[in-house]
Amino acid sequence: MGRVLFSKRLDNIEPSAVRVILRVIGKSNIISFAGGLPDSALFPAEEVKRACEKVLEESAYRALQYSVTEGVEELREELYRFMVRRGVLPGHPRDDEEILVTSGSQEALFLITHVLIDSGDIVVTERPTYLAMLQILYDHYAEIVDIDLDPNGLDTYKLEEVVRSLQRENKKPKFVYVVPTCQNPTGITMSMDRRKHLLEIAETYDILILEDDPYSYYLYEPIDVKPLKYLDSSGKVLYVSTFSKILAPGLRIGWVVGPREIIQEVAKAKQVLNLQSPTFTQFVVTNLLREQVVDRRLPLLAEHYRKKRDAMLNALETYVGDLADWVNPVGGMFVWVKLRRNIDTMNMLQLAVEKYGVAYVPGAPFYPSRPEVNTMRLNFTYPSVDMIETGIRKLAELIRELST
Ligand SMILES: Cc1ncc(COP(=O)(O)O)c(C=O)c1O
Repeated sequence: MGRVLFSKRLDNIEPSAVRVILRVIGKSNIISFAGGLPDSALFPAEEVKRACEKVLEESAYRALQYSVTEGVEELREELYRFMVRRGVLPGHPRDDEEILVTSGSQEALFLITHVLIDSGDIVVTERPTYLAMLQILYDHYAEIVDIDLDPNGLDTYKLEEVVRSLQRENKKPKFVYVVPTCQNPTGITMSMDRRKHLLEIAETYDILILEDDPYSYYLYEPIDVKPLKYLDSSGKVLYVSTFSKILAPGLRIGWVVGPREIIQEVAKAKQVLNLQSPTFTQFVVTNLLREQVVDRRLPLLAEHYRKKRDAMLNALETYVGDLADWVNPVGGMFVWVKLRRNIDTMNMLQLAVEKYGVAYVPGAPFYPSRPEVNTMRLNFTYPSVDMIETGIRKLAELIRELST
């Protein structure tokens, strides 16, 4: 084959450390804190099997047929009810809002960016932020303005300064992308005050907020957080979520709810991309929602993952208490660790995998700018409690080796 001339946009997709890591996850002798995988032992395989059978018995002809781009009507109805039950929406949706079903929330993030962002348009993100969203933004040549997170979440005071200074140049962010609850990668949860302030800014300066919320449906502490969407009285929030962390990522069902004007454009873009998400899977998820399978799982997930989170926090305290600092997450899947010594965790990764048999995601790629190279993201939902304990002990040995 001759030389293939790929498109320029491929230059934006880095051959990232994450991909190197994903390759090692499959190796059985590696303890992996990389990836964002739920515990496969918790997948509701029996319930999914029964739902599949029921769908085929009762609705095969519709479930195996093409359906509308926005998503199967019954699923969209069930999704609204689910969001109201779980406190995402205060009541029935606003008249000017619409819901659209996607193939995982990743597709929703991509499509929203696709319909809103031209090359050079400004997007505000948290610093650090979700890596795969950054890749979408790079892919669309967005100009990223990243704003620091502190223990209360996005620094909204800094955001307001940034918005004001952009205003002086007649510019404005197209949207602010946030993961307000149990953020990926840091595990930080935005305080209610900051949430309200963020919404005030969105309203005052007429800026859209893209709220990405895979993790708020179960928490490990009884804290009071409400999604921005719940608090949004002016229709500024595009809310994106997914069944990946509450049912199973292999189903690939996510959704977005937001201003109809935008959702209609997202639907057009989705039509170009893949016409629709699989009808059959949508019917299956509808059934699981109707049977309350999802709702019943949430307390079980919280209980199970709380134990794993605690195992990781205890192991960190025991083995790396003097070498690192970290954030205690109230939910989600990750602990964000910052080494006290300025060791580059990207350079450390190969040794971690090859000599110590442990993998993690180095922190640098999560930063749109000014990476803090001594950071790393550790996943606690996938490995067993024993593996967490052993893996952190090994990681500590490695950090000690490099610290002396
Ligand atoms: C913050 C965030 N957004 C979106 C996604 C994408 O999830 P999915 O496409 O499986 O719904 C993830 C997955 O880990 C995530 O952590």
